[in-house]
Amino acid sequence: MNEPNVKILGIESSCDDTCAAVISGTTLLSNVVAGQQVHHDYGGVVPELASRAHQQNIVPVVDAALKKAGIKKEEIDAIALTRGPGLMGSLLVGVSFAKALSIGLNKPLIEVNHMQAHILSHFIQTPSELYNPPSFPFLCLTVSGGHTQIVLVKDYFDMVILGQTLDDAAGEAFDKAAKIITLPYPGGPLVDKFAKDGDPKAFTFPTPHIAGLDFSFSGLKTSFLYLVRDGKLANANFVEEHKNDLCASFQYRVVSILMDKITKASQETGVKEIAIAGGVAANSGLRKALSEAAANYNWKVYIPKMQYCTDNAAMIAITGYFKFLKKDFAGIDLVPKARFEFTR
Ligand code: KG4
Ligand code: ZN
Repeated sequence: MNEPNVKILGIESSCDDTCAAVISGTTLLSNVVAGQQVHHDYGGVVPELASRAHQQNIVPVVDAALKKAGIKKEEIDAIALTRGPGLMGSLLVGVSFAKALSIGLNKPLIEVNHMQAHILSHFIQTPSELYNPPSFPFLCLTVSGGHTQIVLVKDYFDMVILGQTLDDAAGEAFDKAAKIITLPYPGGPLVDKFAKDGDPKAFTFPTPHIAGLDFSFSGLKTSFLYLVRDGKLANANFVEEHKNDLCASFQYRVVSILMDKITKASQETGVKEIAIAGGVAANSGLRKALSEAAANYNWKVYIPKMQYCTDNAAMIAITGYFKFLKKDFAGIDLVPKARFEFTR
């Protein structure tokens, strides 16, 4: 079923980006993101500062999304919002705003799981581009600041988590390594940038031996910490002199850990439709490794555009659209969930 004229407003406020988007059917009309500079010097998101910034940003961001889409708020058919997982104070801003709008406009609410939305971002269509979403079943490697999962996606809302991290998420590992070499938050994109001019084999880090399709990144982070500590003891300028190589070698190991497990998942399930999603899907090393693996293993790979990798409301709106088709609406008594699983 397809209802191309159904218009969904998506609202996302689970972490440190305030986002709103409007979708008509599967076609994106607008996608607005307001980031938060306030966390840069803290090495991570400060929850209290994040919720305050959401409070300031939410009205102008939603207003901008409606204006860019060229529609009035009365023309929306439903409001989709991120219920979780995420930071409670941040989620509360989006959820409360969406509820108020729902009452004011008399339009239904649709709750969305943020991690499920990262996966369904592959179904966003834009007027100017070829529409080529994955076919079911596909495997999705969802890698963000809070999660690292391999998900078998059998249908829009029939997903099974095959493996996940036992400690740090991949994005968290990037951010912690960046902090160790005094890069500001979020460090992932900066590690990626410096890695481009570095030697990925300059430093070697151990490969974690974790059973099945689960991941672990805390050992890697610790060996990075010790390498930098020892390097600085021997040479005060160690980090400055080796920044590119440190970033390239660290990134190389994170990517190899991720690629090993997604390859294993493909072998075990026989599924060759492979997608990536989440903020770390923006990583150039991972995108390149996936493209190379596609050729080696005869995979069909789906790599989202950069703006749909990191947090956005377009993914909330598309998920909302698919729920709208099922008439899967939420009650006004809905509350956010900081921890929120999406399996059946
Ligand atoms: O999905 P996302 O925007 O927010 C969460 O739901 O967590 O992911 C943010 C994470 C951060 O840890 C950030 O450092 C990482 O994605 N990230 C990257 C890159 N761009 C964003 N990590 C590595 N390379 C990148 N290019
Ligand atoms: Zn996310």
